[in-house]
Amino acid sequence: DTRLLPALPLAGKHVLVTAGPTHEPIDPVRYIANRSSGKQGYAIAAAALAAGARVTLVSGPVALLPPPGVKLVPVQTAREMLEAVRTALPADIAIFAAAVADWRVADAGAQKIKKGAEGTPDFALVENPDILATIARDKARRPSLVVGFAAETEHVVEHAKAKLARKGCDLIVANDVSPESGVMGGDRNRVHLVSASGIETWPDMDKEAVARALVSRFGELASAVA
Ligand code: CTP
Ligand code: CA
Repeated sequence: DTRLLPALPLAGKHVLVTAGPTHEPIDPVRYIANRSSGKQGYAIAAAALAAGARVTLVSGPVALLPPPGVKLVPVQTAREMLEAVRTALPADIAIFAAAVADWRVADAGAQKIKKGAEGTPDFALVENPDILATIARDKARRPSLVVGFAAETEHVVEHAKAKLARKGCDLIVANDVSPESGVMGGDRNRVHLVSASGIETWPDMDKEAVARALVSRFGELASAVA
């Protein structure tokens, strides 16, 4: 009788996670990207799986193996990431941990650009779609809990508050990625949770511990809104 088994906190939930950078081609051999190891997003996917969820991990290019048991959807560009996220819906909880490139080159060349007489190239950039804001504002398909991240180099909490309002998500997980913080690419993280109910600052922890604590909080928040 399975009714006697203790239920895992995210049993029966579909959790969607974006992680890593996106690569926006300049030509076949060059790209624009944000710095991102993908570690925090992958750790969240693993923690959600351990909490009993079905997990879809939409990931840009990273040097990590997906946690066994998650459905990995590999992508390169922001537009591919948005498409993969849309395809993965519906989800109960969506966590947008990816460091999406804000801009792409308007017309990426089909051939490698050569140095030379024409001088330095002058790229026209266009803004990429905001995946988090698009999904958070999708009335028909919005997951009941939508979480964004904000990696900032200054005024961390102020910027996170502005992003919470601008993007229409339920929670922003903000962190300081200034060079002095030592967070970028490392194994530890110190986050601030910014939501309508206020600001909570957590102590410095390794990224796995941050992931487990976040997933347990997401579970509480998702069952509160369900
Ligand atoms: N994000 C996204 N799609 C984008 C840009 C950002 O889904 N095109 C998501 C990120 O995954 C993150 C959140 O939005 O969860 C905040 O990303 P961030 O780069 O901090 O916000 P921006 O609005 O791009 O602002 P900034 O000018 O600070 O880069
Ligand atoms: Ca950005």
